[in-house]
Amino acid sequence: MEIGKGTKVFITGAASGIGRSTALAAAGLGARLFLTDINRDGLDRTAALVAGRPGEVCMARVMDISEEEQVRRFAEDIHAKYGPMDVVMNIAGIALFAQIEDMTHAQWKKVIDVNLWGPIHVLQSFVPAMIRADKAGHIVNVASVAGLMGAPWHAAYSASKAGLVGMSEALFFDLRPHGIGVTVVCPGGVDTPLQDTVAILGADKNSARFTELKKFFGRHAISPDAVASQIVKAVQRKKFLVITSADVRFGYFFKHHVPPLYRAIMFRIAGLLNSLKRADNGPSEK
Ligand SMILES: NC(=O)c1ccc[n+]([C@@H]2O[C@H](COP(=O)([O-])OP(=O)(O)OC[C@H]3O[C@@H](n4cnc5c(N)ncnc54)[C@H](O)[C@@H]3O)[C@@H](O)[C@H]2O)c1
Repeated sequence: MEIGKGTKVFITGAASGIGRSTALAAAGLGARLFLTDINRDGLDRTAALVAGRPGEVCMARVMDISEEEQVRRFAEDIHAKYGPMDVVMNIAGIALFAQIEDMTHAQWKKVIDVNLWGPIHVLQSFVPAMIRADKAGHIVNVASVAGLMGAPWHAAYSASKAGLVGMSEALFFDLRPHGIGVTVVCPGGVDTPLQDTVAILGADKNSARFTELKKFFGRHAISPDAVASQIVKAVQRKKFLVITSADVRFGYFFKHHVPPLYRAIMFRIAGLLNSLKRADNGPSEK
């Protein structure tokens, strides 16, 4: 479906990074936006950036997507005033890289609550009304390369994102008869604030090797605007899987077609990450 003048687009994670870039891209096309995030200042800033573009922000609300009642209430308020959405985008997320012995239960649970339960709350609150509307629509779920490949130190993050990939594929088949398309976006590195807010547990962050590896991954990051433009195109072309960068496409290819090479690369990455391990490992707050 086309995102154009008057298209109603709901976006989570709109205060920052990929969510903000996608909101601005949709506003550039004349969309009517329904924005949310847990970060009030960032959400206000996005709304200010939308002003002056062809689109408009119809409603913006600060909420926590891991709280089902907050999501359901926002959906009810939107539906009462504006009716069902045309496009729903789950973009909000958090990242945690750690090995199992270095994570508390609460840390692991929070990743699943935000990255998997968050999108479930959104889809349950918005999709039934889209089905009843009986017209073309689209869902976008931003997962990650970690949803396609279980990388070392990514157990919790991969669990959340692989769940989102699996759910997206099921919905792709379920929603087709209703004219609702589904896209799952699997980015590699993207140059957003997440690169700094990611919780990395059990690593010695003062070591030169840590700084070196961070710089290496930073150099391979693409811009959030580039991801936003791939998202808009995927909606228009009804594309299911969007892998945003070439390195991830290679990894995905090797995983399926050259498994021994894929495993060798992953063991090499595991070795590099394991060399960052703090001597006094065990659960910590950050
Ligand atoms: N940046 C990357 O390298 C990268 C790579 C792969 C996947 N992703 C995914 O892309 C998505 C967007 O991330 P980004 O890179 O733009 O990061 P970001 O930190 O810039 O944006 C994420 C947004 O989600 C919001 N958020 C976090 N928890 C929330 C909650 N409980 N309720 C509501 N909002 C919440 C944050 O406030 C923030 O505005 C995430 O789902 C992330 O997992 C990012």
